[in-house]
Amino acid sequence: MSEPRFADQLCTELLKVLGTADHQLETVLARLNAIALRPLGESAWTAESLSRALRQDLALPVASQYHYATLVQGRGAHPARATKREPRRTPEERAHRLLRFGLRNQWYCVAASSEVKDRPTGMVRLGEQLVLWRDSTGRVHAMEDRCPHRGLALSVGSVAGDTIRCIYHGVEVDQHGVVRKVPGLPDCPLEGRKLLHHYPTVEHYGAIWAYFGIEDGEPPELKLPYELTDAHWSAEIHFDVWPGNYHYIYDNLLDPMHGIVLHGQTYTQSRGPHTDRVQVRENDGGFEVFREGQRGVNLDWMEFVESDGAYYVRVEIPLPPSAGPGGPMHISFYVTPVDDNKTRITVFRSRRVVGWEKDLWHFLYHRKLKAIFDGVLAQDLVVANALPPWPAQENLYQHDIGLIQMRRKLERLAQMQAADLGLGDY
Ligand code: FES
Ligand SMILES: [Fe+2]
Repeated sequence: MSEPRFADQLCTELLKVLGTADHQLETVLARLNAIALRPLGESAWTAESLSRALRQDLALPVASQYHYATLVQGRGAHPARATKREPRRTPEERAHRLLRFGLRNQWYCVAASSEVKDRPTGMVRLGEQLVLWRDSTGRVHAMEDRCPHRGLALSVGSVAGDTIRCIYHGVEVDQHGVVRKVPGLPDCPLEGRKLLHHYPTVEHYGAIWAYFGIEDGEPPELKLPYELTDAHWSAEIHFDVWPGNYHYIYDNLLDPMHGIVLHGQTYTQSRGPHTDRVQVRENDGGFEVFREGQRGVNLDWMEFVESDGAYYVRVEIPLPPSAGPGGPMHISFYVTPVDDNKTRITVFRSRRVVGWEKDLWHFLYHRKLKAIFDGVLAQDLVVANALPPWPAQENLYQHDIGLIQMRRKLERLAQMQAADLGLGDY
């Protein structure tokens, strides 16, 4: 591993070079070779020594002063699904609950891969208690966090090969929610019965998505942003749980005009005119929200993407030359309700980079840029903390056109789903 002080010095020099010269590898090497700093044990910077120095640094632990990530554990007080003892809800009540806790028949990004290790992990998502766990092959599974025997959380149990075992009487359940073993009673009638709802999962790029269907069944294929599937792009993941209903997060993401005010002191955010009008344009997979008077200056363009039951927001963030090659950073932002008053955010920060540019992006990210980007999110978190319980009393104006579009879409879908649910338990 490289010395931290060496990496700090290299980072400082690279920021200077990138901010004042073109981003060609030859230029960067020539400028580095003109200063006193040398690669460890070598007399000159080459493509190889630079790549080595950039990559070695990735092994360093990542620390951030803005780290709020918490996995919400335990049992929620307000489960979204009705219990058997509650009276059946009207379609209007169901639509309102769907809006508050999150629409069904969708893929949601529920956890980071790093949060689910060899033990079952409990969490609340969309007002439901889930347990995530890995089987003997490392494949991740998600299901109701409830032992079919007497209702104990399975997340305090353990993994036994390809089943999860309850700590209370040892009942074992497989990934489809089928009871496989009741150890204390051979031939128990519970064995072989599917007694728990399970959630299909996909793991990709360090994150886990789960499908929240209305009923059990085959989900549509999860379509991911091109930034996470195209080898020309390279991403870093950031996740957290924020206070407030998930509507507030979408509101924030589809509101370009807060950039120059809330984030005005940060990085590129104060650039450009401070007054403007906002437009919305529908496209194939959702809609774009953008400032009329500028593009590519700061927070001035974003897109709500809706693809086969998975929603995310793409935001384009122009970066200054010192942030190196790769063009504007793209953010793919996944919003997952925890309950009606907390929201899990998963943010993929990507740039279009390959080869040494990719090494450089990740090096600069961990050394310098992550703290800046997290600092911007910390400003949004101040807002999330200061908003009233959803929904707020409001007087909207022209700039709120993006969030109005989003709210209409969610309301329409909630009404459709509430009608489709028939006599379901929601
Ligand atoms: S409650 Fe889980 S085995 Fe009895
Ligand atoms: Fe913001």
